[in-house]
Amino acid sequence: LHLSGPGARGHARLGRSGAVAQPAAEEPGEDAEVGTRKKTFAEVQTERLNQAERTVLIKCPSKVHEKKLLQYLSSHGNVKSHFFFENRGINALIEFSEKSSIASLQDAVGIPSASEHHVVPFKSRLFTFTLKNPVSQRIEETPIHLSPQCHIPVKDLIEKLCLADNISSQMYILLNEYQLTEENIKLRFLACSLVRDFACAYFPDSTVKPFGSSVNTFGKLGSDVDMFLDFCDTGKHATKMKKGPFDMEYQMKRLPSERLATQRILSVIGDCLDNFGPGCANVQKILNARCPLVKFSHQPTGFQCDLSVSNSIAIRSSELLYIYGCLDSRVRALVFTIRCWARVHGLTNSAPGTWITNFSLTMMVMFFLQRRSPPIIPTLDQLKELADEKDKHIIGGYDCSFVSDLRKIKPTKNTETLEVLLCEFFEYFGNFDFRRNSINLRKGKEVNKPESSPLYIWNPFEQDLNISKNVNQPQLEKFIAMARESAWILQKEDKTQQMINKEPWGLAALLIPFGKSNSSKMKNRMKGIGSETIRSLLDSLKLNNANSQQKAVGK
Ligand code: GTP
Ligand code: MG
Repeated sequence: LHLSGPGARGHARLGRSGAVAQPAAEEPGEDAEVGTRKKTFAEVQTERLNQAERTVLIKCPSKVHEKKLLQYLSSHGNVKSHFFFENRGINALIEFSEKSSIASLQDAVGIPSASEHHVVPFKSRLFTFTLKNPVSQRIEETPIHLSPQCHIPVKDLIEKLCLADNISSQMYILLNEYQLTEENIKLRFLACSLVRDFACAYFPDSTVKPFGSSVNTFGKLGSDVDMFLDFCDTGKHATKMKKGPFDMEYQMKRLPSERLATQRILSVIGDCLDNFGPGCANVQKILNARCPLVKFSHQPTGFQCDLSVSNSIAIRSSELLYIYGCLDSRVRALVFTIRCWARVHGLTNSAPGTWITNFSLTMMVMFFLQRRSPPIIPTLDQLKELADEKDKHIIGGYDCSFVSDLRKIKPTKNTETLEVLLCEFFEYFGNFDFRRNSINLRKGKEVNKPESSPLYIWNPFEQDLNISKNVNQPQLEKFIAMARESAWILQKEDKTQQMINKEPWGLAALLIPFGKSNSSKMKNRMKGIGSETIRSLLDSLKLNNANSQQKAVGK
């Protein structure tokens, strides 16, 4: 794949096949082998969380002098990495080699003089850097590189795609433009780490970890940060207690249900963020949802965040997707393509409703890849067979075990191109018998639907739940119609002619709302869809009203 121009922006990008770029030089003494193989999900999480704890965020003047800033910071310790980005001005993310450097820096910084406002004296890892004498210092400034934190608009993407050689390259270009960058991942983990500082005020042993698309290899620049509060060592204490002739345990507040405890904890942390968190805005406590959460915008990092309390099943889903995303470079390219395609055609929407979620869509792609011959990814049952003792996870009575070491999974023999896979995806789901069959990733097989929901995708870990229960018939029909239309466009198109006519071709043609480019052809294949779409929009609005306070996490 040839990347030129703004596509190769000269900053760290993720490896195409792995979730997280493998930093070249890691902590001394670390297993050398870890640097070359793909890390396990747990290793990546630990390393990133640790990195985030040694990181600060500094708001800088618009004409910041990079060398001077680094020189100033170096008096507190070695700066391991840093980058600048724009978000309400220029910001610098600074990663120190040692955590102690942060305390040293915190000791040296001042408290803002409060003339108009009164400041809450919570000392975070967010600072403002100013020049005492901006005029004299401005002379030697050199422009700094700003790392982008959002993807290019679809319109620009389409232009780029038209310059590619074939559809497979187009799909890799889309992946490269949309996937999380090394810098964006650092920022996501920092946001979690900053929230952790509040949680630790009450629960010193707690951690805040990201889950969902921030860590499952399918995250797109601009997507939200899903994070959960983890009281990780409650289990450890339980086993410790068993040893010795005595029993000693903490006196703890007892509540009638886990849900109530979760609600109370989130309520207090939510209040903390709202009242004391620098740059935490629009804090919304959504405690009555199936999975209680606190939503807020974290202005310093620019993320929309969803904080919930440890949800083991959702974490297992994140790890499962991480494994699938790391197994073969085609997996992520296809998922990013389908997600982008679905968004353009209004099949997905960031508001909750009767449409297919990105999560369900990703599972559909995984299922399709399991169904190829030979399969591109293994079934969940096959991953479970490869699990060893340390991979055992029984959650709420469900066996959620699967292998964590990627080396144990045999690479696929399937050599189909992405172009073929894209076309076949549309064919497959354009003709899927949704009335009778459901999608089961554990078995990798179509199985009879256990109930009448229009779209039934088995929750891989809680086998009696359907992750796409929210999808109504009109939305499903719209998906089918768009898939058929897309398969038809890909089969019928004449790339040479389209290039001569300067028309978008291949993937680019699929990313233009169909009504706009070829409305007359579309009308025939979409007969009857119009009224359904309107009906479904009305349905969604109704549902939106009823559920505006809900989010489908951890169903
Ligand atoms: P984007 O945010 O759209 O990039 O994708 P995401 O995978 O992060 O989705 P979202 O933020 O909606 O949800 C975060 C995580 O919650 C998902 O990755 C899943 O692990 C879990 N989740 C979301 N929706 C469902 C659902 O309907 N059922 C189940 N079991 N888990 C869900
Ligand atoms: Mg998300």
